Amino acid sequence: MTFLRNAWYPAAWSHDLGETALELQILDQMIVVFRGEGGHPKALYDACPHRFAPLSRGKLRDGRIICGYHGLEFDGTGRCVRNPHGNGKTVSALQVRSFPVAERYGMIWVWMGHESLDGSHPLPELPLFDDPELTWVYGQLNVRVNYELVTDNLLDLTHVEFLHPFLASPGNSARTHYHCEQTGDEVRSVYTIKEEPVTGLFQLLWPDAPATANMVADIVWQAPARLSLKTSMGQGESPAAHDPQLVVMHLLVPQGEEATRYFWAAGRNSAKDSENVSAMLKQGTQNAFEFEDEPMIAAVRSRMRSNDLIAHKPAILPFDEGAVRARRIVTRMLDEERAKHAAI
Ligand code: FES
Ligand SMILES: [Fe+2]
Repeated sequence: MTFLRNAWYPAAWSHDLGETALELQILDQMIVVFRGEGGHPKALYDACPHRFAPLSRGKLRDGRIICGYHGLEFDGTGRCVRNPHGNGKTVSALQVRSFPVAERYGMIWVWMGHESLDGSHPLPELPLFDDPELTWVYGQLNVRVNYELVTDNLLDLTHVEFLHPFLASPGNSARTHYHCEQTGDEVRSVYTIKEEPVTGLFQLLWPDAPATANMVADIVWQAPARLSLKTSMGQGESPAAHDPQLVVMHLLVPQGEEATRYFWAAGRNSAKDSENVSAMLKQGTQNAFEFEDEPMIAAVRSRMRSNDLIAHKPAILPFDEGAVRARRIVTRMLDEERAKHAAI
């Protein structure tokens, strides 16, 4: 098992949680998320304690969820508050497990670890989501592999020239200077390219773009699998606040050993009111992840006997440093978590 349990995991974009309940799989557990009383998000184990019907197939009424099989009704804490049968008794056996839940950065988060620990693990810090200069588009997809293989892909931007030829210029990798650093449990990879042809993507954000500009792509990874990538192009030696900037947040959720839910959001600081740019960015980003990255990562997995990349003794190239560091941190945290759980 390679899941870190003591973590807040993204469950859904806030705008996707409306009048109906959502059925999710996180760390091999089925979970139903819905808006309870006052519109506050709630997360319960997605099986009714009577015959284990998925509660996500039930109905929502006044912030309660009504099982679609025999009508038992549960509040957001998982307590059975109505039994439409016989004497109507609601016994404690009719309790559904609930999960701590929070709403932040336009997203619903679920705590999957030990309940006594949720207060000691604050929500992730993703300040780019609070940047008032950025306009966002959002997406999500399923990837048929372990989340660590997706992290490997995201921490390595040198694949862009080859896998996403429309997003980079030929020879881009040879011109790229790569630098990786680790601060505590955060890994940062910075890719710098001088006088790079302005990509089609950046031309959308930069109406009078010159033919070439200096490009910096700065990606930060946090455990278990949150990445924020900030790319800018400009004419100065280092990025300036007014340079066109594209930010992509990648939030990965292990659904199981071989399945990952991948939430992404792309923010930009220019052409902010253009619906056309929003639509192109949304479609282009989704297509790249879904039709280029996802099939390649799934094909990579098909050539591995397990998800333990290091055990396969891969050839490590210099730009793999970020991904290797991230894997080492997750391995150490998994060991720490096992020790902590043994002590609880
Ligand atoms: S299975 Fe839910 S009420 Fe019977
Ligand atoms: Fe990619």
